[in-house]
Amino acid sequence: MPDIRIFPDKDALAAAAAELVVAQAQAAVAARGAFHFVLSGGSTPRALYARLAGAPYREQLDWAQMQVYWGDERCVDPDDAESNYRMARETLLAQVPVPPAQLHRMAGEIQPREAAAQYEHLLRQRWQRAPQFDLLLLGLGDDGHTASLFPHTAALDETARWVVPNYVPKLESWRLTLTAPAINAARTVVFLVSGGSKAVPLVDVLYGERQPHTLPAQLITPASGALLWLVDADAAARLPR
Ligand code: 6PG
Repeated sequence: MPDIRIFPDKDALAAAAAELVVAQAQAAVAARGAFHFVLSGGSTPRALYARLAGAPYREQLDWAQMQVYWGDERCVDPDDAESNYRMARETLLAQVPVPPAQLHRMAGEIQPREAAAQYEHLLRQRWQRAPQFDLLLLGLGDDGHTASLFPHTAALDETARWVVPNYVPKLESWRLTLTAPAINAARTVVFLVSGGSKAVPLVDVLYGERQPHTLPAQLITPASGALLWLVDADAAARLPR
């Protein structure tokens, strides 16, 4: 059974997610001296990032031991309004003392194939068999996508690489994304899902027919790590009680 935690509204969801980040970070630093943290994009995580930048969470996090990554990125400049890096910088990273060398953004501004290869190289310098992210955040799109693993796109079938460029026809644009194998190697994967528009995709992903090419979030089945769904009441409206 999936581990689903339902919160009254998106603020309560953000507060619970902040508590989880702190707990995971403290455990990772205590055990291994670092916290490898993967941020997701879109709008849902904004409230979480803003909370982490302020009291009490800011003081509870050992920013100097944090290594920050992105689960996906739009192929745009880092200052572009669409950039997931820019969103995280504005809501969190510009306010906290993570050493700049520990902010590992995906290079959305260069050729997608080269950007993906660079990120893959970065990860493979650190891990040999599989990336061991401590906490990996994901969102859920209305169409069942997660990261930039969109329905019926090439990235869904990648089994070897950890990072790929992915052309998304419906957006008429390129994305960079961690692949399912890279995500599934994480120690803890957390979906943050908020809003009534996610109620149907959420129940389809969790309880519907298995059809990962149509509902890519179904590809996320961590090999040995934990998988949590933090959802607000609107997004949970269709879940079986
Ligand atoms: C992105 C995200 C994407 C996002 C979902 C949900 O780059 O947009 O990585 O996977 O998490 O689309 O987005 P919202 O939180 O805005 O609904």
